Parts: sequence; structure tokens; C-alpha cells
Amino acid sequence: MSDIDQGTAYGMAAPSWDDELIEVEPGTPAGELLRRYWHPIATVEEATATPRLVRVLGEDLILFRDGSGKAGLVHPRCCHRGTTLYYGKVEERGIRCCYHGWLFDPEGNCLEMPCEVDGGRYRERYRQPWYPVQDYVGFVFAYLGPPDKKPALPRYDIFENLPSGFSVAADADNIGLEGDPTPCNWFQTQENVMDPFHVFILHAGFSENQFVAEMASMPDVSWHLTDLGMKSYQDRVLPNGDRFHRVTEVVMPNVRIVASPFVERYGPGESVAWTLPISRTETKIFSAIVVPDDFEIPRPLYEGRRWAELSDEEHQRLPGDYEAQVGQGAVTMHSEEHLAGSDRGATMFRHLFRSQVRAVAEGRDPLGVSFTESDARYEILAGNFLNP
Ligand code: FES
Ligand SMILES: [Fe+2]
Repeated sequence: MSDIDQGTAYGMAAPSWDDELIEVEPGTPAGELLRRYWHPIATVEEATATPRLVRVLGEDLILFRDGSGKAGLVHPRCCHRGTTLYYGKVEERGIRCCYHGWLFDPEGNCLEMPCEVDGGRYRERYRQPWYPVQDYVGFVFAYLGPPDKKPALPRYDIFENLPSGFSVAADADNIGLEGDPTPCNWFQTQENVMDPFHVFILHAGFSENQFVAEMASMPDVSWHLTDLGMKSYQDRVLPNGDRFHRVTEVVMPNVRIVASPFVERYGPGESVAWTLPISRTETKIFSAIVVPDDFEIPRPLYEGRRWAELSDEEHQRLPGDYEAQVGQGAVTMHSEEHLAGSDRGATMFRHLFRSQVRAVAEGRDPLGVSFTESDARYEILAGNFLNP
């Protein structure tokens, strides 16, 4: 037997990742797929009269809300001579560059050039590069793709006709970080949604039980393709004989619909969340959650404390999603993996994602984009169901 056959780490091949899954930049095949969908980029409260730097799909952009209430998302470098609009002043009709005062509306149209004759006789010729935005369920959504392929913004049934006493909370908790980006690639975070086995090990056994007793036994698991993505079923028989049927889904490419793991009530899921790639190595999860008024969104607790309150040693003893996913590295190395039967959900999701990357590369529209408002409505499948 040679030395290498003994399986030591000596002489390991250089690791690599699968570009087709993890790239987010413009011009990359995966980045072009991601650019065919709307993404939440900030909470509506974060779009204000103070210009804000946001990073989305590896692009740095400036977000603002003008005096008329309209949000704008523009390229940072002013199209005149390139200073950043981060130092611009937001006015009634748009954002004014600090250097020579060119004024741009939220769609980048140049409205004033105060140093030029007649306030800029040819101002219609200049346009600050911009992206379309829309407010929905407490977030500003942006579309960074080709203008002629802009889909309608998808609407989800659970946010319509809310019962009285309920509202939608816009939450940006990021597997513990509460607002800060998670320092790893978005794909390893998203494929985790199709990995229900980790709930039994990581959340219910390895550390203490981080959710509730109903979630703590090993489920029977199956995965299924849906019209717009895929779902997993997790079935358990509770100690009293009730059957607990849990459905978790992914809508292409980065929507995650996961019913509360705290199982406050049975029925359809109460939230839709988006895994936003900030850059290749930063990710942020935006969740819109239907909650009763005055409801405090529950967080996993670790010996009674929040994730951010733990010491390094406690993170080792009580790991959660952050440790497991960021622990895979800033970008996981696919070449070093050994996938097993319980990874079938992740494998199916990768296959589905690659098929859509290729569809866009071949000039087709990807799964789930609709060009009319009426087609862009989605009824969620996820939930915690009792004796279905
Ligand atoms: S650089 Fe912006 S107005 Fe001149
Ligand atoms: Fe998890």
C-alpha cells in the first residue's frame, strides 16, 4: 500500500469549488441567473435621505429615498467625473452629487447641471447608471438584470388579507448575527434548507435542543421537485401518537420557506425569506414573517443566551447554523466532499440550480420568472401540519 492510500492529509490535491454554484458577479453564469430575479437588499427603513452603501451580488451601490418617498438605487460613481454619490445630498426629486451638483432622479435621469449653461441644456443625454427597486413586505427589492427580462415582483399568498391583529415583520437576523452579513458564500447557506438531517444532529443533539421537543426526533425524510423549486417532507410520530408532518421548501433560486422550528402553531408556514448573496463570501438572510401584534420573534437559545453572547469556547460546545455553515469556509470546497444518501436534498438542489444556470446561458427564461403581475403570485407549500 502506498503512503497516499493510508488517507493521511499529506499530499492532498489542491481543493476547488464549483463555480457554477457559487459565483455571483456579473458575467458569470451563476451571477447571470441570480440577476434574473428580484432580491431584497435592505429594509424599507434603511432607504432614507442619507445615502447608504449597499453591496448586492458583488456590486457596490448607493440606496436612498427621495423627498417624494421614492427609493433609488444607483451606481456609486457619479457619471460626471466619478466622485461617489455616498456624499451626495438627497432632495425632493433625487440625489445631488456633492462635487458639481448634478441632480439625478431615482431612475438616474439627470435633472440639473448647475455649472452648465441654462442648468445643462443637454442634460437628457446623461444618465447615472441605476437599477429598478420596489418596496414589498418591509424590504426594498432590486432587479439587477437585463431590463428587457425584468420579471414581475413575486407576491406570496400569506402576506395578503392578513387577519386582524397580525402584521408582517421584516427581520434580518442572520443565523445569529442579527443584521451583519454572514461571512460565507450564499449557496452553502441556501442548500442547508434542503438538509433536514442537520436539524436532528446539530440543533437537537450535538448542542442542547435549540428548538422544541417536537423537532428533536429523527424524522422520515423525502424530497420532491415542485413547479418553482423543491421541498422536503419531514415526518415524525410524536410521543402521544400524533403525526407531525413538516414541509420545507426552496423557490428558485434563493427563496427559503421554512415554518417556525419553534412550532408555535400548526398550519401553513408564517414566513418567506431570501438568501441574498452580498458578495461571493458574504450572505444576508432577509425574512418577512407574519406575526401577531406584540409578538417577539423567537431565536435559538444556547443555555438561555443569544448566539452573539457566547464566548469562543461556548461556540465550540454549543454550535449552531453559524458554526456549521461558516465552518465550511468562506466558500466550501466541493472537491473535498463525500456526499451520502442523506445529502440527496442538497444534491437535488445543486442539480436544479445548475440546470437553471444553463437555461439562462442558453437564452431561456429560468424557472419562476413571470412577466405579468397575475402570474407572479405564489401559494406557499411549507408548514408544520398535525395529522394531515
Ligand atoms: S462629479 Fe458628480 S457632479 Fe461632478
Ligand atoms: Fe439549521
